[in-house]
Amino acid sequence: MQQGKCLDNLLEKIDKLKKKYNAVILAHNYQPGEIQDIADFTGDSLGLSITASKTDADVIVFCGVLFMAETAAILSPDKIVLLPEKNAGCPMADMITGEELKQLKQKHPDAIVVCYVNSSAEVKAESDYCCTSANAVEVVNSLPADKKIIFVPDKNLGGYVKQMTSRDIILWPGYCPSHVMITEKDIKAARKQLPGAIVMSHPECNEPVKALSDKILSTGQMLKFAKQSRIRKFIVATETGIIHTLKKENPDAEFIAAAPKAVCPNMKKIPLEKILWALEDLESSPDKKTKYRVTVPEDIRKRAKKALDRMVEILPKN
Ligand code: 13P
Ligand code: SF4
Repeated sequence: MQQGKCLDNLLEKIDKLKKKYNAVILAHNYQPGEIQDIADFTGDSLGLSITASKTDADVIVFCGVLFMAETAAILSPDKIVLLPEKNAGCPMADMITGEELKQLKQKHPDAIVVCYVNSSAEVKAESDYCCTSANAVEVVNSLPADKKIIFVPDKNLGGYVKQMTSRDIILWPGYCPSHVMITEKDIKAARKQLPGAIVMSHPECNEPVKALSDKILSTGQMLKFAKQSRIRKFIVATETGIIHTLKKENPDAEFIAAAPKAVCPNMKKIPLEKILWALEDLESSPDKKTKYRVTVPEDIRKRAKKALDRMVEILPKN
């Protein structure tokens, strides 16, 4: 981590270029603390998608992983979306290709396809609806009850949705390598370490972990719940990056990670310097075709946007 004058210099340079290009910095809740601290918006996948679609900025610097930057580019084709580390992918999103989904659809031609936002633009383009961990149950519940549903790529979120909705759901065997690191043993040990704590787990955790939890929440829902809960002790069963903001927003409460090893290496690939480099590269590329820019081919973008728009239509308006 940068310190003192050096950090001030770096932040000053970032700020100057942000102003010059009318840029905003969006950061996912799993990003390193120093990135979350300087971001204009932090949030879960749903909150960030909505922010990306509504912002007046000309440039979005996305501190997250590729599918998140792609989602921003799908929703805001006129904006320049920068991902400061092009190799920040999501292994779960890469567990299904557009072609594999096409083949699955051929086997179940009458099924409605719901894809988790943690998927490539090609997979979204092959889907009828998109969802996030915050609204997957609502999205599936809004679909006709007699319809079979294909849910990709996360078998753990999909399994949870199946359980909550009792719907006929065909699952794809994808999973998040970081969340499946959390085991039942970890939850039991954490409960002993922090007796009386509430266990909040992410739906990407496996079924036995969720069964041992008190609350199953997206990262955005965890942040909201922790602020409102009367009990002030929490065991957090998700990627550990969120604990930074949980602690910052709740100085009176105690948080421990269910499994400190549950780190997503892809979410930690963007230090502050890379934000500056991405903005500097924009400065030296008059045609704005910088290597950090994320774009989606127009035919795929239009089809993927339909799946995202259908998700947004289902959301409660407030
Ligand atoms: P949410 O922030 O939407 O809960 O997503 C979790 C995740 O794994 C993102 O990669
Ligand atoms: Fe993908 Fe899991 Fe990392 Fe999220 S935490 S980006 S689902 S690997």
